[in-house]
Amino acid sequence: MATAATRPFAIGATLLPLALPVLGYLSSDIRIMFTIHLFLGAFWFGTAVLGAVVLGPVMGGLSAEANVEFAKGFVPRMTLLMEPVSVGVIGSGIGLASMMGLWASPSPSLWAALVLAIALLVLGFGPLHKFTVGMFDEIAAEETNHERLAALNKKYGMLSLVELVLMIAIVATMSGLRWGF
Ligand code: HEM
Repeated sequence: MATAATRPFAIGATLLPLALPVLGYLSSDIRIMFTIHLFLGAFWFGTAVLGAVVLGPVMGGLSAEANVEFAKGFVPRMTLLMEPVSVGVIGSGIGLASMMGLWASPSPSLWAALVLAIALLVLGFGPLHKFTVGMFDEIAAEETNHERLAALNKKYGMLSLVELVLMIAIVATMSGLRWGF
């Protein structure tokens, strides 16, 4: 996948979202960590909405050949970018909460955010990753099995809607944190 997405993209997409939270934490400045968390969180949320609501359905409606062409560029880049971004958002959130001293007596919203974050990671690195790798294998194969590709695409689409619901819930917990719940 790294080769398909191009090496510079793979390096940037992995390093940037993982390095930013570490730098934010090392800065010892809550404002810097907050900004990094906000930036990565907004990026993840926006991309998840775009993927589930716009790109997924568009891909599903393409002809088999066009779908393969689209997926060739889309699948490796999306996977290489979003997996580190998800870890970066959650890592920066946990780090930010720690810098704000919130873990000393975690509020219900903080617990809820943590549970939702774990569920998002399990979903993302478990079944979503599995379906993505399966799709990539089909795309890269000499003879693409279009039926398998379409089936994986459909499962992926449905699970990304579940992911979207969890993300909306986690953003609600962010609001809860802000207002002290
Ligand atoms: C999809 C994942 C996430 C997204 C999109 C997200 C987004 C946001 C946004 C938009 C804010 C600013 C609103 C505010 O001030 O509350 C925020 C703040 C914050 N987030 Fe997250 N976040 C995510 C995950 C997490 C996780 C997993 C944790 C920790 C377990 C966390 C901890 C925090 C903390 C401590 C704040 C500051 C709250 C405050 O200002 O009092 N976030 N997040």
